[in-house]
Amino acid sequence: MAKNSQFVCNACGAVHSKWSGRCDACGAWNTITEETVSTGPKGKSLGPAKGRSIPLSNLSTQDAPLQRTHSGLEELDRVLGGGLVPSSAILVGGDPGIGKSTLLLQAAAAFARRGAKALYVTGEEAAAQVRMRGQRLGLADAPLLLAAETNLRNILTTLDNERPTVAIIDSIQTMWSDHVESAPGSVSQVRACAHELTSFAKRKGISVVLVGHVTKEGQIAGPRVVEHMVDTVLYFEGERGHHFRILRAVKNRFGPADEIGVFEMTGSGLKEVANPSALFLSERDHPAPGSVVFAGIEGTRPLLMEIQALVAPSSLASPRRTVVGWDSARLSMILAVLEARAGLGFGAMDVYLNIAGGLRISEPAADLAVAAAILSSRQDHAIAPDTVVFGEISLSGALRPVTQADARLREAAKLGFSAAFGPQGLKTLEQNSLQLHTFMDLNAFIQSVFGA
Ligand code: TYD
Ligand code: MG
Repeated sequence: MAKNSQFVCNACGAVHSKWSGRCDACGAWNTITEETVSTGPKGKSLGPAKGRSIPLSNLSTQDAPLQRTHSGLEELDRVLGGGLVPSSAILVGGDPGIGKSTLLLQAAAAFARRGAKALYVTGEEAAAQVRMRGQRLGLADAPLLLAAETNLRNILTTLDNERPTVAIIDSIQTMWSDHVESAPGSVSQVRACAHELTSFAKRKGISVVLVGHVTKEGQIAGPRVVEHMVDTVLYFEGERGHHFRILRAVKNRFGPADEIGVFEMTGSGLKEVANPSALFLSERDHPAPGSVVFAGIEGTRPLLMEIQALVAPSSLASPRRTVVGWDSARLSMILAVLEARAGLGFGAMDVYLNIAGGLRISEPAADLAVAAAILSSRQDHAIAPDTVVFGEISLSGALRPVTQADARLREAAKLGFSAAFGPQGLKTLEQNSLQLHTFMDLNAFIQSVFGA
């Protein structure tokens, strides 16, 4: 076999013919490293040797229904699409220190307590350290099997002997396969180990959960390089200073993507948050200009969250636009629409936008709430604190209807809100005391709410 070297981006896995400071494929800086690859003889076809004929089946063949395993952690089970699917491979990514090991140790113990055979392999800590953490988390009584190992061959042999229902591999970046020459954490190692583990899972009916750190410095391959190999990709997110943690399904072959589970990091581990809207809003300050409650949908669930904006005179030649938790291009668009359609300029003003609680929103339905927060700060005019806002803004300034308006209104009514601002076409729900105010376009909204 010939040995070649190639240049691989650690963030996205793209292969380049030469080194450069920036990856053309994903735009990341300083993530390209050289790796040695062994290649078999090239340019030959498969030859005349016959393969085995593959057994075929009909699409209409009836299989036994999927037997999902439940952890009993409702937030986790829902994000997985209703429990763990047998023979599936799951990737849990997240920043270092966000709580992935804590979450998965708790999940593994929960599976074990419910009678599923669960095995937790750590490549980052000693078994004694994991045991100590388990004790602190009150998991000491769970019949969970522990191993501290990084050699993939040993891990696969152990899994084959033990045949657990679920195996946690923490983390994929510490594992190494003796098939691959490069160091643990390199793109080829991470890919090879993930490939071995996922195909092993399919063959032997074991569910494997791979933990992957999101890496900033670029010397170690990030979880993105294995996203395409697994069935389910979950990201564990949250702001360091906040105690909320969100488990988000980015890809799921066995359930809806975009589903979220909400947890709170406490002194004794992660606690599930069954009613996240109430929790996110409990941190709300007194009614203040710039604060607006958005009635959003995250996955299959409505979620109320606070949007905060601050508009202040700027001394800079190009004023600041700072966004946390939302898309900055979308903010520029809303500012442009406000300027072009309502004549409200932001040329000499800094605009700061923040989604409270460390949440991240991607829904266009938040447009109107964002515009309301910005206007509320600009005009120094607080919006009544018992009001929720939602609606998409088009470039013409028209307000567009949003999906699942009923679910949004129901959640708002449940949490004691008494009014909603939204696009036309909203219908009052029976037994719902919410007062609806609907608007055709942004100008009508501004007229009515800010009197300008
Ligand atoms: P950890 O699960 O080790 O993170 P990761 O595996 O994603 O790197 O979590 C580390 C952080 O969680 C650490 O900063 C301390 C905090 N933590 C708590 O606040 N409470 C707890 O009970 C535990 C176990 C950790
Ligand atoms: Mg960890």
